[in-house]
Amino acid sequence: YVIGIDLGTSAVKILLVNQRGDVIQERSKSYPLFQERSGYSEQNPKDWLDQTILGLSDLIRHFDGEVEDIEGISFSGQMHGLVLLDKNYQVLRNAILWNDTRTTKECQQIYAKVGKERLLKITKNLALEGFTLPKILWVENNEPDIFQKATKFLLPKDYLRYQLTGKLHMEYSDAAGTLLFNISEKKWSKEICELLEIDMDLCPPLIESCHEVGTISLEIAQKTGLSPSTRVFAGGADNACGAIGAGILENGKTMLSIGTSGVVLTYEENAEQDFQGKVHYFNHSVPDGFYSMGVTLSAGHSLDWFKNVFAPEEDFNEFLEDIDTVPAGSNGLLFTPYISGERTPHVDANIRGSFIGMDHSHRRKHFIRAVLEGITFSLKESIEIFRKNGKEINSIISIGGGARNPIWLQMQADIFNTKIIKLKSEQGPAMGAAMIAAVGCGWFDNLQECAQTFIQVDKVYYPIQEHVEQYKKIFPLYKNVYFTTKTLS
Ligand code: XUL
Repeated sequence: YVIGIDLGTSAVKILLVNQRGDVIQERSKSYPLFQERSGYSEQNPKDWLDQTILGLSDLIRHFDGEVEDIEGISFSGQMHGLVLLDKNYQVLRNAILWNDTRTTKECQQIYAKVGKERLLKITKNLALEGFTLPKILWVENNEPDIFQKATKFLLPKDYLRYQLTGKLHMEYSDAAGTLLFNISEKKWSKEICELLEIDMDLCPPLIESCHEVGTISLEIAQKTGLSPSTRVFAGGADNACGAIGAGILENGKTMLSIGTSGVVLTYEENAEQDFQGKVHYFNHSVPDGFYSMGVTLSAGHSLDWFKNVFAPEEDFNEFLEDIDTVPAGSNGLLFTPYISGERTPHVDANIRGSFIGMDHSHRRKHFIRAVLEGITFSLKESIEIFRKNGKEINSIISIGGGARNPIWLQMQADIFNTKIIKLKSEQGPAMGAAMIAAVGCGWFDNLQECAQTFIQVDKVYYPIQEHVEQYKKIFPLYKNVYFTTKTLS
């Protein structure tokens, strides 16, 4: 057996998987998100650790087999979040997360000191509020006493792995999202550090995703019931791991992943494609592989928000029950999902969302369908960028919350005008992490081989032409809403 742990934004998900890729046990433990001011989003790293230990020990307690048969463990995690450590590697403040947008000034500071062209050349990415470097600068600018004490920074899952093993590293696919990393040379950028006067010692040692860092510590073995000989492998960024779990391991493969954020991600063989920073470009967990991706900041989060405000007591199945009785296009009601700003394509942390075209005939179900359509339109904007840059996208593997509802899957096929593939027993990034552990343990030669055993297609959704035409008419209107509302916020 192996264990895959995905340290998400709302919860940590833990999977116990056998050599065929079957999920034997699964646990999920949630922790709070602190959003004390508009644009702020933080978590306490201690909560990540405590909940992971709780989840692991609960899982081991209910495991029938021998713990020694759990050979390896690996990680996936929310990207970009800043964990700052002092000289004793104690956490200095709450982690500032990927969806925190307080750092607009620091992004300008990066452009002023490094220059946009140079930044794009080295990191292949723009200075976005969510990335790690602006957060480091924010702490330096606003909490100098804390910054002075910092000796290392880590990303969420790298911090968790450090706590479980006592070994401190950062892994490449996550380092790629810091803006301090030269993604084609696969090393920390001395140039960016120097231009921003950041001590390079702050940057942790780097390792590959399938690299073995050691075994879990005795203390963690005692607390969780795991065997102290359990081997630990580095893991990957949640988007890289989601891509592994969906088999996005070669050119031509594209995935849609809807969790709190929404991502359209496509495999890249090298760092040569030039999207001028319009989509993100990161190192994959496949050695020498890359991926590019567009991000809708509030995808599942928009739906959660709407449900929490208007129907907190319902579960999702109940909530989405009658949306299939609403025609494609929600009878003229349009939603834009910019409730905490937007990344792709607008790179605008200040824009806010909207409902437009309300009519007295609209009912609750129209609003719910409009929310789903708005999220999906936003993700189509990423697909358009790929297509305009010559990428062929004729089939997409849909994973995450967006793949749980058949009406939403059909809507994705209709709005994107592509086949949408749903996987059997789709487990998202946690499965990607388990696959990294499986390859690390030597069950397979590489991730591609592992994918052939672990990943199976469940169902394919084909576009319905009538809906495709309907959505083609609405999409330009949707795109316009951003430009007509952006000065309102
Ligand atoms: C990617 C990003 C999000 C987080 C979500 O750039 O910020 O998808 O990784 O966990």
